[in-house]
Amino acid sequence: MAKKTSIQVKFSLVFFLTLALVAGAFVAGLMGIRDQVLRHEAEAVADQVVAFRSWVAGTGMVWVDKLAPDFPDFLAKRENYHGAAFYGKNPALATRELSTIANKTALRATFLVTSDEYRQVANRPDGFENDAIAAFKNDKALKFITGYEAGKYRYARPIFVKKGCLKCHGNPEDAPAAVIEKYGSDKAFGYKVGDVRGIVSVKLPAISWQQLLPVLSNPVAIGLVVLAFLLNFFFTQRVIISRLADLTKDTTAIAKGKLDTKLNYTEPGKSNDEIDHSYHAVNLLKKSLTIILKRAKKK
Ligand code: HEC
Repeated sequence: MAKKTSIQVKFSLVFFLTLALVAGAFVAGLMGIRDQVLRHEAEAVADQVVAFRSWVAGTGMVWVDKLAPDFPDFLAKRENYHGAAFYGKNPALATRELSTIANKTALRATFLVTSDEYRQVANRPDGFENDAIAAFKNDKALKFITGYEAGKYRYARPIFVKKGCLKCHGNPEDAPAAVIEKYGSDKAFGYKVGDVRGIVSVKLPAISWQQLLPVLSNPVAIGLVVLAFLLNFFFTQRVIISRLADLTKDTTAIAKGKLDTKLNYTEPGKSNDEIDHSYHAVNLLKKSLTIILKRAKKK
């Protein structure tokens, strides 16, 4: 039969098991922080999108005197007295063009303003976005939805219909001719104030738990773990193992008849240390043995 393992080996195993559990708890904590950091970053991006949209909405439209090659769309056209043309871009259109640029150039965050009833094919929602829109329609109090998908962190925030939106998203008869002409009279009409019109959807690179591992295995963290192990190792060695070895040696000597063996320990009245208590018990045994042997000699 295999020999039982020593306290030091058992202790070391427990130490590393504990370490693994603590590391697990730490990673779980880091994952929570990661979720929060990514959400805050996505919220900041969504805030910027909403702010940009409302800047354009505040002016009604932004007018440009030149259409960039990548962005030929416009909703309205005006000419000044000299015959120079100006092209009007409504908030949704301007936001889509900003989104197109961001999706090409951004290092981290890309975004899309999308809807289940989209006028613009480029605004077509994907699976996550469709689910988010359905969830916001279902629960108007829901502030945001997040998720991880294919290496991306996903975030969505609802866009509600306000009075000013009804001109182009309410009754088609009220809509500017340019909207009907360009998008038809059956797309994205019939909304009421308070309805969910769509979402701001933000995508960021996700952070996996594998990417968090290097955070745990930096030299300082490893150094501290080694230090913790050595501290525990030498503490167990000094306070338990070497004293148990002495006790074994002394008790063996007494058993062999060396009754003058000196037991080095603190009285139980002055010590809560269990090994001192064991020593004391052996000391009592030694005293009893001395008395018994004296009596045996007298007879
Ligand atoms: C001047 C008319 C007009 C007004 C007012 C207007 N929209 Fe739109 N909206 C449009 C047009 C046109 C599009 C399509 C833009 C494009 O081609 O990308 C659109 C698109 C959208 C989209 C993107 C999804 C899609 O259909 O492609 C959302 C979301 C949206 N509008 C929400 C709103 C909200 C909310 C308001 C009020 C705050 C509003 N709109 C006011 C004309 C308007």
